[in-house]
Amino acid sequence: MSHELFEAAREAMARAYAPYSKFPVGAAIRADDGSVYVGANIENISFPQGWCAEPTAIGAMIMGGGSRIEEIAVIAEKLPLCTPCGGCRQKIAEFASADTRIYLCDDQGVQKTVTMAELLPYAFETDVIG
Ligand code: THU
Repeated sequence: MSHELFEAAREAMARAYAPYSKFPVGAAIRADDGSVYVGANIENISFPQGWCAEPTAIGAMIMGGGSRIEEIAVIAEKLPLCTPCGGCRQKIAEFASADTRIYLCDDQGVQKTVTMAELLPYAFETDVIG
């Protein structure tokens, strides 16, 4: 199952638009609806306007009808076991649980599995906002 997500993330990475960093990243989510949603990083000449692979995949999930991340694979062409950046950790956490598995990959497959709680301890959470 995780290998299928790895392959989906790798295929998504091939669609990265990363002419500035030349650092393609891919992400693949298996959502609660059973579907796999993918994304790649999409950069912009106004550098802060670009975004990561993970929010592309999250957007695809939401628009496709999924609502929870059951598991997610991330891959970067130039960095084995690339972990989601800080902002992406919080974005993933919004739709994940403490035990949601995050698969860190190299070009061969999943090499390390971490949970959401391991990836983002002390995530921002509060009952004050809705
Ligand atoms: N990047 C991602 O897509 N996901 C991450 O979690 C880390 C960084 C992208 C953003 C930018 O396009 C490139 O990698 C270099 O930072």
